[in-house]
Amino acid sequence: MKVTIVGAGNVGASCAEYIAIKRIASEVVLLDIKEGFAEGKALDLTQTATTLGFNTKITGVTNDYSQTAGSDVVVITSGIPRKPGMTREELIGINAGIVKSVAESVLAHSPDTIIVVVSNPMDTMTYLALKATGLPKNRIIGMGGALDSSRFKTYLSKALDKPANDIQGMVIGGHGDTTMIPLTRLASYNGTPVSQHLSSSELEEVAAATMVGGATLTKLLGTSAWYAPGASVAYLVDSIVNDQKRMIPCSVLLEGEYGENDICIGVPCILGKNGVEEILDIHLDESEQEKFKKSAQAVRAMNDALASNL
Ligand code: NAI
Ligand code: 2OP
Repeated sequence: MKVTIVGAGNVGASCAEYIAIKRIASEVVLLDIKEGFAEGKALDLTQTATTLGFNTKITGVTNDYSQTAGSDVVVITSGIPRKPGMTREELIGINAGIVKSVAESVLAHSPDTIIVVVSNPMDTMTYLALKATGLPKNRIIGMGGALDSSRFKTYLSKALDKPANDIQGMVIGGHGDTTMIPLTRLASYNGTPVSQHLSSSELEEVAAATMVGGATLTKLLGTSAWYAPGASVAYLVDSIVNDQKRMIPCSVLLEGEYGENDICIGVPCILGKNGVEEILDIHLDESEQEKFKKSAQAVRAMNDALASNL
């Protein structure tokens, strides 16, 4: 299986590393616009193969899309990341132009590929990629919910003082500090509701920390995070290229699900070899449904701001 990652920066390179180390695909192409940058990252990563024990072929190219031909999955991470104090939304103008042209170039060489959009503001970039390419909705997938859910589970594990791998939980809605919805009611510690172990105020603190999880890291690092984002993308790619059919919250086009239409926003999906194979319309209680509606309004407002680029 061949995976192309456009943008060999922090998230793109981390993603390539995890795909190789976990032997998710046999071939990874890293593409960047910066002369020699992707080649350098690919060479450096390739030199870890003997110590880490993988055989994935990693190639780096400068803006040469012919090398990406026949990709099963293309991940778009190209764009500028957040700086401290910036919202994901402030990246809209610059990243829109990049995402649109990259999606078109990718499809010229891999017409059957499945595209995973990472660049922010991710829900709007996913919608833009969908509209700009005209691809069927199962082939354009925004990554945000997987990352937000991993942060949610991490904060739950800290509050519970229990191993993160024993925690189940999901974040849906937009991938934004005020739009994401950690589903605390449904979260569990080895099948037992977390509400049996944590007070409502502790659960509220976990939800609040999750929602600003990206901003917290941006403040600490001076740019946005990459290990957990790269790992989350690799997790999605694995489910697609290895037909794992995992249930992962992803930003996808809704056509009536959750009462919404013509919007890409995070909802639980089954990912397999055909991309989004199913959207799970799970039951939300009244307050969750209300939050989802507000989240969709905010994402829609961002899409409207982008309308001139469509
Ligand atoms: P970065 O700056 O480290 O890497 C971006 C790379 O894209 C750079 O190497 C740059 O040269 C390249 N690039 C720019 N324009 C390009 C073009 N037209 N064609 C090919 N390459 C191009 O940034 P980082 O940290 O990797 O973040 C990338 C994007 O992902 C940002 O928009 C960031 O906000 C977003 N992000 C999204 C997350 C999510 O959960 N959806 C999580 C983390 C980051
Ligand atoms: C993150 O959540 C900024 O979207 C990026 O880390």
